[in-house]
Amino acid sequence: MTQKSLALISDNEAIKDSVAQAVDRFDDLSLETHSGTLSSVNGRACDLMGENDLLVFSFSGELNLETVSDLRRSAGSRGTLLALSDRDISLTEARALNKSGVDEILPYPIGQDELAEQIQRLMVDKSLLPTIYAPQPQRLGQIISVCPARGGIGASTLSINLADQLQGYSGIFRKRTRNKVAIVDLDLQFGTVATSLDLQSSSGLLRMAQDGVTPDRTFLQQSLVQHASGLEVLSAPEEFIPLDVLTREQVSALIETLRLEFDFVVIDLPRALVDWLGAVVTASDRMMMVGDSSVSSVRQACRLIEFFTKERLEPPVEIVISQETKPTFRSSQHVEAQKALERELRFWLPSDARHAKQALDRGQLLSQASGSCALSKAIRTMGRKIMNETMVGKTGLRNNAA
Ligand SMILES: Nc1ncnc2c1ncn2[C@@H]1O[C@H](COP(=O)(O)OP(=O)(O)OP(=O)(O)O)[C@@H](O)[C@H]1O
Ligand SMILES: [Mg+2]
Repeated sequence: MTQKSLALISDNEAIKDSVAQAVDRFDDLSLETHSGTLSSVNGRACDLMGENDLLVFSFSGELNLETVSDLRRSAGSRGTLLALSDRDISLTEARALNKSGVDEILPYPIGQDELAEQIQRLMVDKSLLPTIYAPQPQRLGQIISVCPARGGIGASTLSINLADQLQGYSGIFRKRTRNKVAIVDLDLQFGTVATSLDLQSSSGLLRMAQDGVTPDRTFLQQSLVQHASGLEVLSAPEEFIPLDVLTREQVSALIETLRLEFDFVVIDLPRALVDWLGAVVTASDRMMMVGDSSVSSVRQACRLIEFFTKERLEPPVEIVISQETKPTFRSSQHVEAQKALERELRFWLPSDARHAKQALDRGQLLSQASGSCALSKAIRTMGRKIMNETMVGKTGLRNNAA
């Protein structure tokens, strides 16, 4: 059994007790505790990160993000950092912390089971990504997952064409693209991305399932197929495989590897609840929930959001209403839907069966088959909004406007 170690920096006695109790549950885990805060232990934090598998620190009130970024910068790819906040923190704060280099943030108090589980997870995750993991959070691409609330609503059509638009076309003939974009078809059994783009399906996900490989950069090079538009596609396998054959660790490694290579990664999800969905929920910067305003679709979307909330306190779900034109005034049904979903009905994709079918039949993107149709325009606008909200700083590094 390899011995692992955890270091804790905290001046909160209750937190020290909780962490000690959580560590006690693992025979192969040792703990060293340092009283103080991340900044008061000065340069020692960097050594602690290098010497231990996991560094946990607690903070109350405002945390100086620079202390965290300095620590991450000097520690480089070594060590995993878990922050325990003694108050509820907002999603914006959590994201800012993530971007500074904290791997996970948890609110305290937290259940003992949950704390032990998270510690165990953080110990495992990084060791799965030894060669490719270089925590340079500002450089990471955005992960956008697309989740259907009901069948045949147009979720895959959105995934494919949103991915296309996120390439950020410019120039007179819109030939130049600004962003590197990948689309991943995780609808393993019924995925349609490859056929919609008239591409050969790749055996990558099948190999991942059969051989249990943990995806890395080489895996991506072997498995991605480039579409003429520039989009890189990881398609669903041609053969039938059980949906739950992939593990969370594999899906998590796949996403983090993609994140390092692309500006945007769009993930088309199946209409099913499966364990590895947790890895997608955790990694997503945005989750587009695609449905319509019917009661059954809204109810299904609520159930999914509830499921995601178990994985992540505030899943970054945005609602897309498909096959409906945005109304000038919201009807009472729309208001009800908003209330139930606790979110605005943010994006609207008009019903445009003719052009959607035409593109599908030709195996083309909407931008190629009928760039000026209403559906194509709506997806283009959506892509622009997302790109605008993902600010590109002077250095060319991306930051989420959160
Ligand atoms: N906005 C739209 N208006 C009208 N028809 C559409 C629209 N978007 C997609 N469609 C059509 O609906 C059908 C299903 O589309 P798509 O495969 O994108 O949906 P899905 O939600 O991914 O379905 P599935 O549940 O099979 O994964 C296709 O025939 C497509 O052409
Ligand atoms: Mg689909």
